[in-house]
Amino acid sequence: MRISISLILFSALSLFRANSATIQHGYDPTLSPNEAIDFLYQKALIEGGKLIVYSGGDGSKSRLALTSRFNQRFPGMNVKFIVNLSKYHDIDIDDQLANGTLIPSVAHLQTVHDFYRWKDEGKLMPFKPPHWDQIYPEIKDPEYYFTSLNIISFSPNALASDYESGNAPIEDLDFLDPKYKNRIVMTYPNDDDAVLYQFDKIISRYGWQYVEKLVAQNVTWVRGTGTPLVMINNGTISNGVTFTSGNSLAPAPDARVVARYPTKSWFLTWGQTAAIFRDAPHPAAAKLFIAWYLSDEIQNSTSVQWSSRMDISPKSGFKQVQDYPNTSPRDFIKFMLNRPHVEYLRFRFERLIGTPQGQSSLLDPNQ
Ligand SMILES: *[C@@H]1O[C@H](CO)[C@@H](O)[C@H](O)[C@H]1NC(C)=O
Ligand SMILES: *[C@@H]1O[C@H](CO)[C@@H](O)[C@H](O)[C@H]1NC(C)=O
Ligand SMILES: *[C@@H]1O[C@H](CO)[C@@H](O)[C@H](O)[C@H]1NC(C)=O
Ligand SMILES: *[C@@H]1O[C@H](CO)[C@@H](O)[C@H](O)[C@H]1NC(C)=O
Ligand SMILES: *[C@@H]1O[C@H](CO)[C@@H](O)[C@H](O)[C@H]1NC(C)=O
Repeated sequence: MRISISLILFSALSLFRANSATIQHGYDPTLSPNEAIDFLYQKALIEGGKLIVYSGGDGSKSRLALTSRFNQRFPGMNVKFIVNLSKYHDIDIDDQLANGTLIPSVAHLQTVHDFYRWKDEGKLMPFKPPHWDQIYPEIKDPEYYFTSLNIISFSPNALASDYESGNAPIEDLDFLDPKYKNRIVMTYPNDDDAVLYQFDKIISRYGWQYVEKLVAQNVTWVRGTGTPLVMINNGTISNGVTFTSGNSLAPAPDARVVARYPTKSWFLTWGQTAAIFRDAPHPAAAKLFIAWYLSDEIQNSTSVQWSSRMDISPKSGFKQVQDYPNTSPRDFIKFMLNRPHVEYLRFRFERLIGTPQGQSSLLDPNQ
């Protein structure tokens, strides 16, 4: 009697295991990555061919290339990226989840703490895409509920010609040089937690005196992390410089504004995290999207700065992200999970430089 009960329990358990393994993959795990993508593509077509992704970002045109790339790669599919700051997307998602009116199937956001919370609340669907084992362990959930899709970085940027003539800053302390007075354009740290993190690292090393000296350089504070690049490029800030923007690691030869990476100072990298919602309107399309994003094709492309995968070579002239002693995507996660500290910093910056002013970068036709 005892034996048969534990046998029943055992088989029920293995049934459950087999079932949850299927749910996590959504495809036969013995398929090659390309075969898995083809399989998910067929399922996504049967499901209706639609997908909405809430994508964290601050430029309304920033996902146009990705949209056409996805729709061309998968004829019959129609992906729509809704771009807004991650800190606004998460509120909308919570509202929709509460009302049972969820619009996106996937969220792909900077606000990594939301994914820890959504997992705890049972709002996410586990999925183990191809190449899972190659994703850096510190930027994925061990139970497959969320993963970073790409690693984003902000760093010093200026006109290429200014870097060539040695007339542009690379290290933290360079920005305090009197020659950069009136030339610095930066995103409000109290409007974007990634920029806030950059300042947190600076403050922990040099104290608030650094920030006071920087402010005394007559910084032009703007909304959106793409805005400094646009304003440097079009000469609104003449010979402008910044460190609150991300730029391509493989710039076109004629790029006017280029990034440089410090060797002595810390720089920001973080995994832009994605998950599928348990109540996703289009779960197969959501799995297809995540599998495709993690494929060689996208991870190697110039639209990704650093790959989330350990087996993808870095861009020419760069090292693998874990080989830099002065950056850590894991450190960013620790920062984002410490909400009291984030809030303290936000308000301290608000006192120093005021609340974010100016037009939302999402309404700027130049980005
Ligand atoms: C972004 O979110 C904010 C806050 O919810 C909202 O006011 C704004 O209209 C949104 N922007 C776009 C472009 O959807
Ligand atoms: C959810 O319901 C609240 C309260 O009725 C409402 O204010 C909000 O607009 C609704 N949100 C959505 C996304 O429908
Ligand atoms: C501060 O910098 C801006 C941008 O370069 C410039 O337009 C403005 O005149 C500067 N203000 C002062 C007081 O120098
Ligand atoms: C430069 O770009 C900014 C931001 O998009 C815009 O407000 C400004 O009008 C542009 N200036 C010129 C001269 O194009
Ligand atoms: C992407 O990079 C990997 C490893 O660096 C390489 O093996 C693969 O061939 C590349 N794929 C494409 C599509 O470029």
